Amino acid sequence: MKRVFSGVQPSGELTLGNYLGAIRNFVSFQHEAECFFCVVDLHAITVPQDPEDLYRRTLDIARLFIASGIDPDIATVFVQSHVSAHAELSWLLECNTYIGELRRMTQFKEKSEGRETVSAGLFTYPVLMAADILLYDTDEVPVGEDQKQHLELTRDLAQRINQRFGPVFKVPEPYIPPKDSGGRIMSLTDPTKKMAKSGDDRSSIALLDSPSVIAKKIKGAVTDSGREVRYDVEEKPAISNLMVIYSLCSGDSLETIADRYGASGYGKFKADLADVVISTLEPIQKRYQELTEPGVIEEILAQGAQRAERTAQVVLNRFREKLGLVPRRS
Ligand code: TYM
Repeated sequence: MKRVFSGVQPSGELTLGNYLGAIRNFVSFQHEAECFFCVVDLHAITVPQDPEDLYRRTLDIARLFIASGIDPDIATVFVQSHVSAHAELSWLLECNTYIGELRRMTQFKEKSEGRETVSAGLFTYPVLMAADILLYDTDEVPVGEDQKQHLELTRDLAQRINQRFGPVFKVPEPYIPPKDSGGRIMSLTDPTKKMAKSGDDRSSIALLDSPSVIAKKIKGAVTDSGREVRYDVEEKPAISNLMVIYSLCSGDSLETIADRYGASGYGKFKADLADVVISTLEPIQKRYQELTEPGVIEEILAQGAQRAERTAQVVLNRFREKLGLVPRRS
């Protein structure tokens, strides 16, 4: 059976971008592949985090995975730092990674820009991500478009190591939806930027936003000049982004939406979009509430870590052996 791995950082409140670009696809993969979905807390601490927020968000993301439809009896849901093989493989991979290739990572450039101090962890972040993926002999990695370069590095590392030491790692393929199917959901206040977790509050819709907040944010979303609802990324980037959100939440095609709202102006379109988003998120929010009972998510994560560890240890040992590291006698 095909293996699928993906991760989400507890670095902010999960957004509609995370859901439409990635988590929605996690849900559909679980019936056709052996899936591992991970809350990557070690990635989040590459930039300063408030410990209480980190703790709460780590559990919340796991709850939201399940509330979105991931069945923890079918897919393995776990926390990265619970499986120490991730950090260990990351070191082994770092020793096979070049500083030059990490310097070229655009996300590192963006995230380090303007900061007075930058942690070494932020620089080696993509290597830990490669470790996450390679540890599970992963075939496919569902992610948004912003992770494409990191996936390319993962593939390069796997190929380099396989060449140096003989077959060790499976070379994974990214699964990235096209832009008009959620690969890159843009900010509501600036359609040239992606919708980000840590962005300005009005720019993104959080999965746990209340219906009235969602309606307000959509009403306030920037639009383009003119009044025609038409999919045209060049001329109408803001409306095109809203149309993609509408399409993914409702199942209606972009053409159907253009036909329905083309002439009715932005106001009616935005009001209906708010309803469509609210009814997509309502069932998720309801299931999330049920998972807030103490101990429920912790138990799911404990079982997930156990399952993940069994697979990860096999792959880690395979690489340790190839490197000539002496196994510890038990
Ligand atoms: P993160 O936590 O930033 O985002 C989680 C997932 O959501 C996707 N995404 C988006 N998709 C469409 N439109 C957007 N505006 C948008 N914003 C975010 C991301 O592409 C991602 O798929 N480095 C990763 C986490 C990670 C990982 C991994 C992913 C660590 N190890 C191993 C896959 C495999 C990240 O920061 O995602």
